[in-house]
Amino acid sequence: MPSFASKLIAWHRRHGRHDLPWQTTRDPYAIWVAEIMLQQTQVATVVPYYGRFLGRFPDIAALAAAPLDEVLVQWSGLGYYLRARNLHRAAQRLVREHQGHLPRDFDAVLALPGIGRSTAAAICAFAFGARRAILDGNVKRVLTRHFGIRGYPGDKRVEAALWRKAESLLPEKHIGAYTQGLMDLGAGVCTRRRPHCSDCPLVGDCVAHSKGLTERLPAARPRKALPRRHTVMLVLQHAGEVLLERRPAAGIWGGLWCFPEAAPGEDVEIMCEQRFGARIRAAQPLPRLEHGFTHFRLTIEPQRLRVARLLSQAAEPGHVWLSVEEAKSAAVPTPVRRILASL
Ligand code: ADE
Repeated sequence: MPSFASKLIAWHRRHGRHDLPWQTTRDPYAIWVAEIMLQQTQVATVVPYYGRFLGRFPDIAALAAAPLDEVLVQWSGLGYYLRARNLHRAAQRLVREHQGHLPRDFDAVLALPGIGRSTAAAICAFAFGARRAILDGNVKRVLTRHFGIRGYPGDKRVEAALWRKAESLLPEKHIGAYTQGLMDLGAGVCTRRRPHCSDCPLVGDCVAHSKGLTERLPAARPRKALPRRHTVMLVLQHAGEVLLERRPAAGIWGGLWCFPEAAPGEDVEIMCEQRFGARIRAAQPLPRLEHGFTHFRLTIEPQRLRVARLLSQAAEPGHVWLSVEEAKSAAVPTPVRRILASL
């Protein structure tokens, strides 16, 4: 037996939970109901619901015969009501197709509404002693830490590797104790925050523990690549001054002073003449800047534009000519401040 499993089983015998209501039955229906209730819901919340539910619907036939509304009433407060609808629908299918019994066949269990691969495995392991691997969120945490698996566990390839790992660890015997031990370890010892490593039976071989990675594993979901926008900032310079434009109150940098902007590819010399009465003598690209917002990344291409002549002396409303020093102390956003500092 792999030592992972034997240590876990021995630990579960001494330290695991043994008295939970679904642990004292081998009724496949009762185990199925427990595993569904325990999806997304903590043990302490589930316990009172579980007893009431089984009291009201003691077997698959009773559940199938009940009106859906009554099932939902019994579920009310547990949340994720799709679970109750699926349970009810599955019970009706089992009455029609399996004489009101949960099938022993893993694939037939997996095919029922509301039962994924890990839940099917838990049900088959607890109810039938089937040698099947579970892989819920807690188990993913245990395995990524123990084996130092660094990728995001929601990633398809990482998840596939975790399933292979989970399957390779299965003991030949005592699958129920092993499965429950893995659940208990994930829920109570290998916790998301501040795991209790000194209580862990597997700490001696734990990669995350030996490398100080418990806080960093499992890896967080990678941030989505944000959409990218581009803008050209026009750094008009004339007689030691730069032109700033006040941004509209709504939108990014609302009310702050910025360089006027052009769309990439726009003819900036014509634009400067039309909008600012500024005839350009020379244009010089400055190093580009990246700026992150919550919903997009902005690439800024600053263009330094030396003004030969101003056709009108007064700046139009919402625009000011300021010395570089004055501009630095105005209400300007960070990228503008950085461009000013580079002049
Ligand atoms: N979470 C999912 N299944 C469980 C079980 N059988 N015992 C404790 N927590 C669980």
